[in-house]
Parts: sequence; structure tokens; C-alpha cells
Amino acid sequence: MTGVPSPRRCAAGAALLACIAAPALAAGDRAFGEHLASECVACHQLSGRYQGIPPILAWPEETFVVVMNEYKLRRRANPVMQTIAARLSDEEIAALAAYFGSLPAPPAQ
Ligand code: HEC
Repeated sequence: MTGVPSPRRCAAGAALLACIAAPALAAGDRAFGEHLASECVACHQLSGRYQGIPPILAWPEETFVVVMNEYKLRRRANPVMQTIAARLSDEEIAALAAYFGSLPAPPAQ
């Protein structure tokens, strides 16, 4: 990934919003995201059904990245998601955003 400006500084926190707004955020690799998603879909149903855990399909990629970083930075208070997000690199989060964002929205509940 040479030549692509690193979104690494997103992790710095203070610069998060400026970073997200910047076009420097590289688009995620959808196939890589699909691979990584095998862990997520044990809880987040691909059918989009709620079942106590919110569906995460068809989100705009930017929103997905922002939310995952909120867990990573512990601004969202769910211990399970904080642990999961903390293990993911910016590249992995972008890939997951590309994959889940490409899936059809769940039917109205
Ligand atoms: C052990 C079950 C579990 C796993 C595995 C899991 N999640 Fe979650 N996730 C949850 C729960 C529970 C919530 C709701 C937390 C809350 O209320 O903040 C959540 C919330 C989210 C949200 C915010 C949803 C919303 O509507 O606000 C996103 C995005 C998300 N998870 C992404 C992922 C991704 C990506 C993975 C895989 C890398 C993953 N999760 C793996 C249980 C899980």
C-alpha cells in the first residue's frame, strides 16, 4: 500500500473527525473484509435480524469507520466491541466497512 496516505493518525483520537473527513482515508478491501467478517457474523446476523445485537449491514463506510473507532477509543461503552475494535487495524476496519456496507439493508423490523 505504498503511496496511500496512512489513516493511522485516526487512532490519535483528537484528530479523528478531521481524519475521517479527509479523503486520505483509503477505501477498504471488500474481499479482505469478508474474510475478517467471519468473526463478526457470529453475533451480527447477516440476515439483518436484530436478535439482541444490532444489524450492521448497508451502513455508509464512513459511519462504520467512525463507530468502530469510537469503540476502539472507548467513547462507546460496550466492553465486547471495545475489545474487538482494539484488535483491528485501520486497514481492517476499512475492509470491514467496505464489506458490510456492500450488503443489502435489512428489511424493516
Ligand atoms: C460477541 C458478539 C459480538 C461480536 C463477535 C461482534 N460484535 Fe459488534 N456488537 C455486539 C453488540 C452486543 C453490540 C451493541 C453494543 C452497544 O450497544 O454499543 C455491537 C455493536 C456493533 C456496532 C455498532 C452497531 C450500532 O447499531 O450502533 C458495530 C459497527 C459493530 N458491532 C461491528 C462489529 C464488527 C465489525 C465485528 C467483527 C470484527 C463485530 N462487531 C463483532 C456484539 C458483537
